[in-house]
Amino acid sequence: MSFFSNIFNKKDGSDIRMSDPFINPIKVEFHSHLIHGVDDGSQTLEHTLDVLKIYAEMGYEKVITTPHVMSDYYKNGPENVLPKVDEIRKGLTERNIQIQFEAAAEYMVDEGLEDKIKNNETLLTFGGNNKYILIELPFMTEPRNFKKVTFDLFMAGYKPVLAHPERYLYYSIKKKDFEEIADRGILLQANILSMVGYYSKQVEKAVEYLIENKLINFVGSDLHHIKHADIIKNDAFNTKLYRKAVSLDLLNNTL
Ligand SMILES: [Fe+2]
Repeated sequence: MSFFSNIFNKKDGSDIRMSDPFINPIKVEFHSHLIHGVDDGSQTLEHTLDVLKIYAEMGYEKVITTPHVMSDYYKNGPENVLPKVDEIRKGLTERNIQIQFEAAAEYMVDEGLEDKIKNNETLLTFGGNNKYILIELPFMTEPRNFKKVTFDLFMAGYKPVLAHPERYLYYSIKKKDFEEIADRGILLQANILSMVGYYSKQVEKAVEYLIENKLINFVGSDLHHIKHADIIKNDAFNTKLYRKAVSLDLLNNTL
């Protein structure tokens, strides 16, 4: 049995031998904060290019970055994000870094998003005609309009993808909520950093539950700075959880 069949045949992730040489099968990374100077992620073009160089070295072929959009703090949209995509692509060419680069966004479920949907504003999506839209929630309390916003998104032709469900305190306590959300057709994106215990033990346990129950559809780095890339490369890729996660039927490589 070849190394690849060894990894890919383990759909339940039950028999992953850590001594196996590991080649990350995920080629498309889609959750990060690399549009410089628009949110709490990368602040300079240089830093963004340094991170993208590491992604390329890790074997990623495409990065779809996702700056925060929050009505109170980060009023980002196509008008300020897309010109920076061009700037970053130019930098990649100049530095001869071989990686495709695109941008979508990570929308906070707030009244601003509700208004944008109502007003038919252009939203930053990914996955072409699939119109996937990455959404996030506050960490401490589920917003009252979560069901309404996701329903409105479906009605408007979008497919909502919930960022890092394992990081929301109210879901990580009673994990059954994950099933209820998935049953509503919402896709789930787990953070690679959660799998190495980067945030907390509780978050690590919650992501383990999501992986064991095959509830995740995407993995993403949620990278905000270059240190995250080092942790992913040196630690997270070597965890049993990450290797189990990538043995599931994930959608990253369809993007
Ligand atoms: Fe994020």
